[in-house]
Amino acid sequence: MKSIARRADLKAYVEHNPQLYQLLRRAAARYVTGDDRRDGLEAAASLTAQGYDVSLEYIGENTATEAECEAAVRELSGLIAELAGNRRKARVSFDLSHIGLSLHTDLALRNLLQLAEQAEPAGIELFISMEESAKTDRVLDVYERSVARYPSSIGITLQAQLHRTAADLAQRLPGNSLVRIVKGAYQESEQSALPRSEQLNRRYLELVEHAILQGHRVSIATHDQQIIDTILTRGWLSEGAAEFEMLYGIRTELSRKLKAAGHPVRIYLTYGSEWYLYICHRIAEHPPNLYRAVIDMASGESVDPVNSYAVSRDR
Ligand code: FDA
Repeated sequence: MKSIARRADLKAYVEHNPQLYQLLRRAAARYVTGDDRRDGLEAAASLTAQGYDVSLEYIGENTATEAECEAAVRELSGLIAELAGNRRKARVSFDLSHIGLSLHTDLALRNLLQLAEQAEPAGIELFISMEESAKTDRVLDVYERSVARYPSSIGITLQAQLHRTAADLAQRLPGNSLVRIVKGAYQESEQSALPRSEQLNRRYLELVEHAILQGHRVSIATHDQQIIDTILTRGWLSEGAAEFEMLYGIRTELSRKLKAAGHPVRIYLTYGSEWYLYICHRIAEHPPNLYRAVIDMASGESVDPVNSYAVSRDR
């Protein structure tokens, strides 16, 4: 699945074939709020009303032309403006390759600074996602140059699977940064990364501990029950510097349980039409999702995960 995810030709085929797009869209509905900003904002409003924090991503990556980068920046800017207008303290997340990194590092930096200039006065945090390891240096380069200007508004995602991450965490983040720690969604070589394993879980926990000890504000972005239980047992959330963050539609019962127990939980919402890579990753991470996708496509019924976040269900 992760190799299929990387196939730009398949992605383009799906996006330009209306019948196939509509069919796969039914499977994507479990993980993506909809094609439009309105879909993302409605889900955000509903989850916020239930006491969750939210992140919003306008999905896309590896944008190939300057005009498409400008269109992505316009969309993100519109999203920030609507969030600011609604006084919603949501976080806005994106891949730097969606706004120019695939064309030129400086283009991504320029676009990020433009968005930060708009987001900062509204108290909206921008969060840079982490892409495949071939891009890590350039992503961190843009992060360092932008966070120097907007220290409280720009966060970075780090992947525990990469061997380099402990050093990046120690050396490349200024004090009191915003950092999201994930295991990593991309297929990487043994030379650069660990596969899913106990060793990776131990490393994940070490990174979270180091990030908290370094005084960063940490988003613990995982659905791994074992990691979450360990973090709760060790009391790492009690200082108020960390939160749990989970992807929309995944382990909703776990988000609900944590929320009902009074822990800070953020749900990561996505919208847009470029969901191909995103759903390939979600299926690859949990193979039973493939069967679910087939059933969703065959049944024709639309799934709405928002309803499954209501905390009252567990009381
Ligand atoms: P792991 O994959 O080991 O799964 C642990 C358990 O969680 C599984 O046994 C299963 O029960 C459940 N689970 C996990 N995925 C599931 C799924 N798709 N469906 C159903 N159950 C599932 N990656 C990246 O490379 N760059 C990034 O910027 C980000 N950003 C990001 C933000 C946020 C908020 C989250 C939560 C995740 C990301 N990721 C990411 C994805 C991340 O790297 C990772 O691929 C997924 O979170 C899955 O890994 P887990 O930590 O859940 O563990």
